[in-house]
Amino acid sequence: MTYIYAFANQKGGVGKTTSAVNLTAYLAALGRRVLLIDMDAQANASSSMGIDKSKLTVSSYDVLLGNVTAAKATLKNEKYNLHIIPSSPALAAAEIELVGELAREYRLRQALATEVEKYDYILIDCPPSLGLLTVNALTAATTGVLIPVQCEYLALEGLSQLSRTVQLVKQRLNPKLEIAGLLLTMYDARTALSQQVAAEVEKFYGSRVFSTRIPRNVRLSEAPSYGQPILTYAPSSPGGLAYKALAAELAARSEGTS
Ligand SMILES: Nc1ncnc2c1ncn2[C@@H]1O[C@H](COP(=O)(O)OP(=O)(O)OP(=O)(O)O)[C@@H](O)[C@H]1O
Ligand SMILES: [Mg+2]
Repeated sequence: MTYIYAFANQKGGVGKTTSAVNLTAYLAALGRRVLLIDMDAQANASSSMGIDKSKLTVSSYDVLLGNVTAAKATLKNEKYNLHIIPSSPALAAAEIELVGELAREYRLRQALATEVEKYDYILIDCPPSLGLLTVNALTAATTGVLIPVQCEYLALEGLSQLSRTVQLVKQRLNPKLEIAGLLLTMYDARTALSQQVAAEVEKFYGSRVFSTRIPRNVRLSEAPSYGQPILTYAPSSPGGLAYKALAAELAARSEGTS
């Protein structure tokens, strides 16, 4: 069984990439075979894993355009024992280049058909929009979408639009798509605002909200500049411990052992 999740939220800077990168590393450390796919032209997930995008010859862009197979675009990271399909700035043009192409929403899903059985988890990092790249990720995400929610003012704004997009993709493109989980990020237990946002998200989404909350922790924001997940950069920091716990919670939920 392969669990395929997209990390989506059209709101920028909520922790999509940080969550996708760190969960990939911790799931791999749990012995799972994991593929991380960077679907954002910013390529933050790729650089957070230490990939120098100026040296890339193929990326998720080429996979979407059908220039190469997903296997050809996959890099193995020996240090963390995981795989990644990196992104490149060229991906910014893919939405326009695919206009008019048949079945353009299915490009990623079709490309992954040969890859699925090689992995236990495929995690897809989406850009901050609900455009064609995110729709491709949602169409490929046969287990569901994971939505990071930043515990800040206006956090819930946009969640109803995201839910509508998820419903539309479910109806038309991927009947298996569900909101598999909401993840509270940059949580600060000392502020009333964080507690209010958490309470409100839990009121609406109930048990779909992960019980592990990711605290605001400067170590998490430093790690990408060293090209490392928190697993090696600062494993005993509050952020490291939280993502480790979250990976265990996600694995238990996915694999039906919770
Ligand atoms: N828990 C946290 N504590 C402190 N800083 C964090 C935390 N999570 C993420 N950050 C920082 O906040 C910024 C935004 O996070 P991230 O890039 O993961 O969000 P994103 O949703 O992927 O953004 P985008 O929409 O631009 O793709 C980054 O600089 C990141 O290092
Ligand atoms: Mg991102």
